[in-house]
This record gives sequence, structure tokens and C-alpha cells, in this order.
Amino acid sequence: MDKEKVVLITGGSKRIGANIARYFHKMGFKVILHFNSSMEEAESLKNDFLSKRKDSCITVQADFSDEISINKAIKEIVNSTEALDVLINNASGFFSTPIETATKEQWSSLLDTNATIPLFLVQAFKPMLESSNGCVINISDSEVSSGIPQYSLYCAAKAALESLTKSLAKELAPKIRVNAIAPGIILWPEEDHADKEIREQIINKTILGRIGHPEDIAAAAYLLYKSTYMTGQVLKVDGGRSSL
Ligand SMILES: NC(=O)c1ccc[n+]([C@@H]2O[C@H](COP(=O)([O-])OP(=O)(O)OC[C@H]3O[C@@H](n4cnc5c(N)ncnc54)[C@H](OP(=O)(O)O)[C@@H]3O)[C@@H](O)[C@H]2O)c1
Repeated sequence: MDKEKVVLITGGSKRIGANIARYFHKMGFKVILHFNSSMEEAESLKNDFLSKRKDSCITVQADFSDEISINKAIKEIVNSTEALDVLINNASGFFSTPIETATKEQWSSLLDTNATIPLFLVQAFKPMLESSNGCVINISDSEVSSGIPQYSLYCAAKAALESLTKSLAKELAPKIRVNAIAPGIILWPEEDHADKEIREQIINKTILGRIGHPEDIAAAAYLLYKSTYMTGQVLKVDGGRSSL
């Protein structure tokens, strides 16, 4: 029998991350599910996975803005698994930072979740990913290349993640492939209060005329895992929004 594959998904307790976790679990992966504050959702997803397959999930807590917390989580993961096949950097801070009021703290926080910790996770798990000929999948945003007003810091942090994707693909080849997915509108932010009209305008600027489904991102992540001749790519999964 083939050795069980292992995927680490950051921010995997709900929304897009949870869908990616479900998809990979269904495909036979053992899931290392990282969460920060959503312990209840993480535990419930873990229990669901364990009810389907024994030992097929562990959860790990870490706040990406806290070095002690992240180092503890890395140690915990290294001690709990011998192999890692796929690292999916999905966790992300997302909030508006109008230029008049943006602060250094906001900049650090958005960089930490969207670029700095993804980079140091690659560093920490490089030996394991090398020995499994594994891959890294970074989750970016399809609007990063054109920019989003009031979200310049978030966009810049995601741009850093895309740049890391390209450089690390070259540096870590041929053993580790590094790609990114740039989703369009998949789920509206939990704290989003944009009115119906603004949402309609965004949808109308999408070739397919609708928002996406989290499973679209999960399927793209699985495709990048399976496509062993792809590296250094940023795959837009945005219903054509960025092409209009
Ligand atoms: N939703 C969309 O339509 C959309 C569009 C474009 C791009 N994306 C990208 O797709 C990915 C998933 O999107 P989403 O909307 O599902 O994400 P989300 O709900 O905004 O965030 C995902 C997870 O990130 C974790 N996180 C936030 N701050 C953290 C911190 N300081 N330390 C550790 N973890 C932290 C949270 O974990 P806890 O809940 O455990 O605290 C959260 O559940 C993100 O990278 C996002 O930028 C999404």
C-alpha cells in the first residue's frame, strides 16, 4: 500500500481552509489542521475526519503574530509527523487600512500572516518537503496585481507572497515545487458590511457572472499537488474577474 500523504493547512478550521482540508482528507491525506482562534471549529472538523479514518487528523494552534506561539507549533508538528507532502499557506489577515490612518502595527500584522510566517514555515519544513518531493501552495488574491483601494497593505503583503512563490520555486527546485492560487470572490469576508449594490457591481465585473465556491479553490490546490511539472506559477481562480 502507498504511504499515507500528509498535508499541513494553515487557517484550516473554517471557510476556504476547511474546504481544502475536507478535499485533501477525502483524497486520503492525513491533515494537520492549523488554527488560531477557531478552536471549536477546528476540533469539530478533526472529529469528523477521525470518525471517517483513524489517526487522519491533528490540530495545532498558533498565532502568527507571536513568535513563541509559532515556534511551539512548528516543534509540535515536527514531533508529530515523520513526513510532510504538501504545505498550504492559507491563513490570512484581511482588513482595510486607509492610507491616512494605516499604522506600522497593521503593516506588521498583515505581513506576518500573509507573507512572513508562510516563508518561515517553508524554511522549517524544507527538509521534510524535500524528502517527500513535496510542494508548497500559497493562497494569494486575484486582485493583488491590480490593487484594491483601502487595502494597499494587504495587497502589498500578498504581492510579497507571490514574489516568494516565484523565487522559492527556483531556489527549491527540483525537489520542492512552489505555486500559488489567486482566488477571486469566493466567500464575502465575515466582517464585510458592503451593501448589496457594491457586491452586485463586483459580480458584474466577473466573466462568469457569479462568485466562486470554496471547493473551486480546494480543487485548484489538489490540481497543483498533482501537476508535477508545474512550479513558480500563480493560478488565478476568479471566474475571469481579473481578465475584464
Ligand atoms: N474569501 C475570499 O473570497 C478570498 C478572496 C481572495 C483571496 N482569498 C484568500 O484565500 C485564503 C482563505 O480565505 P478566507 O476568506 O477563507 O480566509 P479568512 O477566513 O479571512 O482567514 C482564514 C484563517 O486565517 C487565520 N488567521 C487570521 N489571522 C491569523 C493569525 N494572526 N495567526 C494565525 N492564523 C490567523 C484564521 O484562523 P482562526 O479562525 O483560527 O483564527 C482564519 O480562520 C486567504 O489567504 C485569503 O486571503 C480569499
